[in-house]
Amino acid sequence: MKSKFRTVRGYELQDKNKKLTHAMEDYLEMIYRLHLNDNYVKTSDLAKLLNVKESSVSKMIQKLEKLNLLNHEKYKAITLTNEGKKIGKILLDRHNTIEKFLKLIGIENNILKETELMEHVLSSQTIEKIKILTEIIENENITEKLKNKKTNHHD
Ligand code: CO
Repeated sequence: MKSKFRTVRGYELQDKNKKLTHAMEDYLEMIYRLHLNDNYVKTSDLAKLLNVKESSVSKMIQKLEKLNLLNHEKYKAITLTNEGKKIGKILLDRHNTIEKFLKLIGIENNILKETELMEHVLSSQTIEKIKILTEIIENENITEKLKNKKTNHHD
């Protein structure tokens, strides 16, 4: 009997046109975020912000450079290509949409962690619907109602 269920990894493998790994997405999102602020992105800043070693950053930068998403010469700033900017913007928007959604439904703890985990697994269609839902929650003041509802959650 054929089953439609897959493991997480199975679904990821099914998604063939998705060429970026979760780690690549995390780096690109952060580079785009920094690029919006001051345009001069350094390997050392990325290592600090993502809590990783500089050697890991260098390896990832090389991978992203091969995909034509950024340019990086030794001892110089990392600059995004137009394609890198385009994808970076989508990734940062996706992050912000999920983070805002979690805040609006009254989540108070570990918002960043949950956002970082959720962002990689939702389809662009779902993200778009969540974006619309956040507008509805805001416009209709649903957050307070949600906060007053009891859940079975224990910390
Ligand atoms: Co993120």
